[in-house]
Amino acid sequence: MVKRDLADLAALGGKPAFENPLHVGQPNLGDRERLLSRLNDVLDRRWLTNAGPLVLELEARLAAELGVRHCVVMCNGTVALEIAARALRLRGEVIVPSFTFVATAHALQWQEITPVFCDVAADSHNIDAEQVEELVTPRTTAILGVHVWGHPCDVEALTKVAERRGLSLLFDASHAFGCSWRGRRVGNFGRAEVFSFHATKFFNSAEGGAVATNDDALAARMRLMKNFGFTGYDRVSEIGTNGKMSELSAAVGLTNLESLETFLVSLRANYRDYQRELSDIPGLRLVAPVPDASGAAWNHQYVVLEVDRRETGISRDDLTTVLWAENVRARRYFHPGVHRMEPYRSLYPEAGLRLPRTEALTERVLVLPTGTQVGSAEIDAIAGILRVAIAHGPEIAPKLRSRGLAGS
Ligand SMILES: Cc1ncc(COP(=O)(O)O)c(C=O)c1O
Repeated sequence: MVKRDLADLAALGGKPAFENPLHVGQPNLGDRERLLSRLNDVLDRRWLTNAGPLVLELEARLAAELGVRHCVVMCNGTVALEIAARALRLRGEVIVPSFTFVATAHALQWQEITPVFCDVAADSHNIDAEQVEELVTPRTTAILGVHVWGHPCDVEALTKVAERRGLSLLFDASHAFGCSWRGRRVGNFGRAEVFSFHATKFFNSAEGGAVATNDDALAARMRLMKNFGFTGYDRVSEIGTNGKMSELSAAVGLTNLESLETFLVSLRANYRDYQRELSDIPGLRLVAPVPDASGAAWNHQYVVLEVDRRETGISRDDLTTVLWAENVRARRYFHPGVHRMEPYRSLYPEAGLRLPRTEALTERVLVLPTGTQVGSAEIDAIAGILRVAIAHGPEIAPKLRSRGLAGS
């Protein structure tokens, strides 16, 4: 049912719009029969991990899909980031946005590399290349850009800074599988680009990740590192970890890879539905790729709103409470900002002073559910909730408080 009045809102006593929770990042899944057949083969072979045939096939297919020389598949995106940083011999300080998922910073801090938080550009939500340059010190070894929402960073500006200051440039491309920057696939930029294939991502292998690179020596080092540093049965050449993907995950990945086009069609249609439905609601800006950067090749994985409280009359947090009551599990990414989470908050208490745009965004951004399980009926209902809530914006906060519902 599309909500029409204040009394329809579940937060104020109405019936929830959805019986079951509608999540951001519900997994996109490919053909079940193909998956089951692959899993049967894995069980028949009794080859569950350690460079099995499906992992090798996935690496080859991904490299072809991305148009890159190497795609080193790993157990998840966080370990892939750690291995990439280690294989690039990063140390000292690395400049990174705070407006990202916490794993980007953890992968550095875990290895006692200092993440130096940089602000983002207000339009793209991506690392601000100008501030990057101001943050370079003699201890800086790299810039780690994040292609937030699958919208590529300003690769050209960052490459120039990296070259000028003699730094490594790498990217956290966890959101950007299947995206392009000026016609070239993400996966080809900097020294390496790291993907997450977590269940919530556009392309998933349940858990998984990869590092794409055109650097042969770097790829070889990462292959050793993801397998404990083994160069032969009894020989270890350097410190390594366990970054291997299992055959079971590779089976999920290969199967999903065959359905990418179907996923994309569905996500693109959802984005357009949201665009149409939300266009007449004041105070909501649907974030879009910066023109010229991504062009047509964008995976449409995230539906991201900026909520302007002065226009909506209701805060992003109260809007979130209203949506959750309807079983719409909208998310406040990347609230409160990595620099406000521990251990970063205590280690780098001054960081917030140079992050005004990050701090503003963490108070404004709201991510809505999409994916192959969401269609126009769900989007109409979600837009209806937002329309009613914003039409009565200022009335809602006191009503929520009187029901003991604070902004989440
Ligand atoms: C921007 C970003 N970086 C890193 C990660 C970590 O990836 P994973 O969950 O595969 O470890 C994620 C997603 O979870 C992410 O969104």
